[in-house]
Amino acid sequence: LIVRRGYHEVVHDHFNNPRNVGSLDKEDSNVGSALVGKASCGDVIKLQVKVKDGVIQDAKFKTFGCGSAIASSSYATEMIIGQPVDEASKIKNTDISAHLKLPPVKIHCSVLAEEAIQAAIADYKGKQNISPPAE
Ligand code: FES
Ligand code: FES
Repeated sequence: LIVRRGYHEVVHDHFNNPRNVGSLDKEDSNVGSALVGKASCGDVIKLQVKVKDGVIQDAKFKTFGCGSAIASSSYATEMIIGQPVDEASKIKNTDISAHLKLPPVKIHCSVLAEEAIQAAIADYKGKQNISPPAE
């Protein structure tokens, strides 16, 4: 009997092989950084995006938390890389939780990832509004 592993399990195992773990240079004016946490469980997600011409070129995360938060962050980075900033900011936690098939008790982990995307984009946008120092 040959038991084939499901496509889902083989292709996107964000739980076992998180993608895009790491950091980007937060001094870079094209990089937006976010640090969000859930007081209820103590887990923290750090997420960064690098934007060029309105498109997210790169994203990295570091998550200090549960496996579902790590998988949610990993999947979030995969979703947003290559997306226009305005599209990425529409991603909902339910897009993430449905994809990862998170159980109800772990839905808040995907909420954290959604918040991290929003916060990283907000940080990036904030940086663009800083006027250059007067001469
Ligand atoms: Fe299952 Fe991505 S397809 S974790
Ligand atoms: Fe808190 Fe997952 S249990 S982020």
